[in-house]
Amino acid sequence: MNILITGGAGFIGTYLANKLSENNEVTVIDNLYRKNELELNNKVKFLGESIIEDIEDLISQNDVVYHLAAISQVMTSIEEPELTYKLNVEATKNIVAACTKHKKKLIFASSREVYGNQDKLPVKINAELNPENPYAASKVAGEAIVRSYGNSYKLDYNIVRMSNVYGYGDVDRVIPKFIEMFKTNKDIELYGSEKIIDFIYIDDVVEVLVKLKEKSGLILNLGSGIKTTLLELANLIKELTPNSNSKINILNERHGEVGKFQADISETKSKLRWEPKTSLREGIVKIFNYQNKE
Ligand SMILES: NC(=O)c1ccc[n+]([C@@H]2O[C@H](COP(=O)([O-])OP(=O)(O)OC[C@H]3O[C@@H](n4cnc5c(N)ncnc54)[C@H](O)[C@@H]3O)[C@@H](O)[C@H]2O)c1
Repeated sequence: MNILITGGAGFIGTYLANKLSENNEVTVIDNLYRKNELELNNKVKFLGESIIEDIEDLISQNDVVYHLAAISQVMTSIEEPELTYKLNVEATKNIVAACTKHKKKLIFASSREVYGNQDKLPVKINAELNPENPYAASKVAGEAIVRSYGNSYKLDYNIVRMSNVYGYGDVDRVIPKFIEMFKTNKDIELYGSEKIIDFIYIDDVVEVLVKLKEKSGLILNLGSGIKTTLLELANLIKELTPNSNSKINILNERHGEVGKFQADISETKSKLRWEPKTSLREGIVKIFNYQNKE
């Protein structure tokens, strides 16, 4: 298959592109807006361009489009709402329209942020959407556009609402930040110790994304289904960094960030015959092992 990945030089995109390139012709379009420590392999064709440009021709040359390019962090979206909507909504609409016109399958990377804060955990796929920041709103809008083209013009699509994905090579998110701080003996600041996060390891995510290219019309949660508090995470990384003398300080939660989330992944498991395989402890040990090889 010919596969296009927007944002394919990003954290998730690089793992996905490298995996898919084993059996497919993979093209990545990414303007390198957000950096990481990963490299695409030399089988992947890289285009260093923006998806804000017209990419209809590029889409027409592929069979499947994974649309991952986005402002991908809540804090960036709060600082740059205009850019967030331009990219995550407007550019998404153009990609959706091009996939519809050329009859290409679209897999849209959505987020658990669409649910906002929910009273009942784990959060089911049909829970009411409650976006609480520009990033979340942009993903709700992106999903709505995708679904509307599915209903009105038979766009072939899948939507995946990912929880917090982690793995070697990502930067500027809670797990890489904590690891770096424990390793360099800096004190850790927790924005709300009781904040609950559902962490999922990158390989488990890539397995689902690869399976989705054979599916149609699915809207799925993609998490581990396991709750972890920030304090548990910090303690786990501290335990795995025994020589660190960092201290853990607990601060107030940051405005606009979701306080607790755990995904209900029962449909994802049954519809894809998939199970998350890597525990948080195993995933963090894998990151340490990769870092030790650097
Ligand atoms: N990582 C997570 O925990 C997580 C969770 C839920 C959803 N998601 C979604 O999954 C997708 C991938 O996430 P990620 O963690 O790999 O994020 P990422 O920021 O590492 O990847 C996104 C990529 O898009 C690129 N990009 C930004 N603007 C662009 C533009 N104008 N043209 C072309 N490329 C552009 C960036 O350079 C980056 O490489 C995003 O849509 C994100 O919102 C991620």
